[in-house]
Amino acid sequence: MQASSQNDIPLSLYVHIPWCVKKCPYCDFNSHEKNNFFDEKLYVKALLTDLDNEYKNCQQRTLSSIFFGGGTPSLFSAEAIQTIIDHARKLFNFDDIEITLEANPGTFEQEKFTAFKNAGINRLSIGIQSFNDSHLKALGRIHDRVQALSAIETAYNAGLTNINLDLMFGLPQQTTEQAVDDVTAACEFDVPHISHYQLTIEENTYFHKHTPILPESDVIWEMQTTCQALLTEKSYRQYEISAYSKTGRQCLHNLNYWQFGDYVGIGAGAHGKITERDKETGDIKITRRWKHRQPQQYIKQASGNKAASGQQVLDQQDIVFEYLLNVLRLKAGGNINTFENNTGLKYPALEQAVKNIDSNLLIINKDKITTTDKGFLFLNEILENLVQRVIPQSCIRRFSLKK
Ligand SMILES: C[S@@+](CC[C@H](N)C(=O)[O-])C[C@H]1O[C@@H](n2cnc3c(N)ncnc32)[C@H](O)[C@@H]1O
Ligand code: SF4
Repeated sequence: MQASSQNDIPLSLYVHIPWCVKKCPYCDFNSHEKNNFFDEKLYVKALLTDLDNEYKNCQQRTLSSIFFGGGTPSLFSAEAIQTIIDHARKLFNFDDIEITLEANPGTFEQEKFTAFKNAGINRLSIGIQSFNDSHLKALGRIHDRVQALSAIETAYNAGLTNINLDLMFGLPQQTTEQAVDDVTAACEFDVPHISHYQLTIEENTYFHKHTPILPESDVIWEMQTTCQALLTEKSYRQYEISAYSKTGRQCLHNLNYWQFGDYVGIGAGAHGKITERDKETGDIKITRRWKHRQPQQYIKQASGNKAASGQQVLDQQDIVFEYLLNVLRLKAGGNINTFENNTGLKYPALEQAVKNIDSNLLIINKDKITTTDKGFLFLNEILENLVQRVIPQSCIRRFSLKK
């Protein structure tokens, strides 16, 4: 029986733009300095071909959100962004959905951001990282404090008020007081969303080879808890490990990932996950597909309808583990009806997978699965425990357990 892509699992679209003005020394995202190879027109053409091909696997579905991530999507012209949104709208026929663009404060001009808004962007995620000049310098950022502040003003003036600010903490030489200063400065703008990431040292980065001296772990813990308390006091509710929002202002796109929804990923190195449901039996087939990572190779392969460099159909163990890996990041955990709908599996499969986890850390019943407050603090330990029991060793490398 032929599987049909028609189903009620939310579907979002991720568009990867793989260029930045300069590579930051801590960053392991698929991003390349703009001077290496940059051709906006050719890249957009490749994206549209990639999207046309992906559409074949999800016809008759609509989109619930779009996210332009990177890299630095704000390097692209508003016309390019508009072309991609228009093409997606033609295929998927959506109305008023969340459409986010990631932006670096070193790339802000008023006119361009007004044009982004007119192109359909209605949410901005700005990579502030810190408002402190010496920390921005240590992070190799292309912007300073004044540019960070004026980027937020520019966004507001362009009418883009649905804003996320990315901050990092645990920076080289940073004190708790300085980390708190950053959060205080961000809260002063009263934006609806703040992401607060602990700086992690990733393989294949400059910081991995030349690691700066970072604050001791007890100082990082103090930073995290003090900043969390401040965010709560300012009405930002933590809903995920690093995500805080005002009531009802969560990032719908990221929520869809964490609730194990579907997504099409287009662009260099982008990943997607598509579920097809058999019309008659209701059986589900979940396929992950990923694209060539190098922009030049991606463009070349996309023109021959070969943007994908690999794909995998998930088996039951993969599905359960990936579901847990995502949903347990959320403070609210997961709803069992959504689990059954989005995985095609039944409650006992989930119950079985977590049966040895201490009930002081994890709660599961027929309505929901969630960590306890204590379990949320020990999420890595829970997931590592699950990896060892649920997933074959050969698959472990595919998952990142970092917070
Ligand atoms: C792909 S970047 C998008 C924003 C844009 N490229 C910029 O940097 O302004 C997404 C965010 O991930 C966070 N990030 C990147 N590398 C990180 C690392 N090693 N540790 C913690 N957070 C990191 C930063 O806060 C960054 O803003
Ligand atoms: S942190 Fe952002 S700006 Fe810096 S290299 Fe990574 S994607 Fe580019």
